[in-house]
Amino acid sequence: VANLIGLTVARNQRAGYDLRQDGVAAAEKPMVLYASSQIHSSVIKAVELLGLGRNALREIAVDENYAIDLQALQEAVTRDRQAGFHPFCVVGAAGTTNTGAFDDLNALADLCQAENLWFHVDGAFGAFAALAPSVKHLAKGMTRADSLAFDLHKWFYLPFEVGCVLVRSETDHRHAFSLSADYLVHTSRGPAGGAVWPSDYGIQLSRGFRALKVWMAFKAHGTALIGRLVEQNVQQSRQLAALVQADPKLELMAPVPLNVVNFRYKAGGLTGKTLNAFNEELLLRLQESGVAVPSYTTLNGAYVLRACITNHRTRREDLTLVVQKVLELGQTLENEGFGHH
Ligand SMILES: Cc1ncc(COP(=O)(O)O)c(C=O)c1O
Repeated sequence: VANLIGLTVARNQRAGYDLRQDGVAAAEKPMVLYASSQIHSSVIKAVELLGLGRNALREIAVDENYAIDLQALQEAVTRDRQAGFHPFCVVGAAGTTNTGAFDDLNALADLCQAENLWFHVDGAFGAFAALAPSVKHLAKGMTRADSLAFDLHKWFYLPFEVGCVLVRSETDHRHAFSLSADYLVHTSRGPAGGAVWPSDYGIQLSRGFRALKVWMAFKAHGTALIGRLVEQNVQQSRQLAALVQADPKLELMAPVPLNVVNFRYKAGGLTGKTLNAFNEELLLRLQESGVAVPSYTTLNGAYVLRACITNHRTRREDLTLVVQKVLELGQTLENEGFGHH
């Protein structure tokens, strides 16, 4: 929803006409926006909900670090302008879901400035890198965004759910959502008093007081403590990656810039789809064992176990245990002859 809100403001502000009144169909040129092929599905869903159509989202190729290819992006923008489209926004990734990769946010901000595009950043969990010494350089440029989405239920350790979006221009933000009605007129005092109503900045009218737990966390813990925990998770991810790399039966499947470790078990003689099926079965057994519940993804056709460490209670022993259990389950599956029938 944070991405949807940010992109709604972007669309309305950059349309060049009263889009709320006349709708997307009134656009002289079709509006298009850009993000890497690694962008989260919630951005795709937002583009669909905004009536732009999925084709409006130009998915740009990534480099070997899973960061957006800047040259390909620049070429796409130029090509679209020449072909009569209206480029209006770039969505940068501050920590992709798959691998925790960061786009070069400063370069994206420069490009957006030069091309007069709205700069939205999806920093669902990666935005919190800004609090941790060893990775805060990755988030450089994030502060130049026109809108920034992040989830306090991810790397701020709060319970579900409290997504957040910051929009640089308060006026643009309010213009996208405020809607008056006879029963919603601000009064000079009383329960309907006060100039700032949350409903003027988002989709919901009735809504829970999610911000309370955020405020309490800031008061009780402060950003210094949260930053130390984020740093701890980053170090733990590096430790897990090192454990994986140290074992010949395991394979690290992507760089680990942040807190996501993608790896798989190398089952003797298995490749392609059979190796994928092997690792999927291994993961399901691991999850069912109750020892650990990593997630999964597919990177360049390879099914991988994906550990994204955002738990302040994770200990080093937990990482050793996960690796031991993966090795044990892998051996069991090999003994069963999985993939050889
Ligand atoms: C990079 C990224 N963006 C957006 C989201 C969507 O967040 P939510 O699940 O809170 O809607 C996620 C995770 O789910 C994510 O990893």
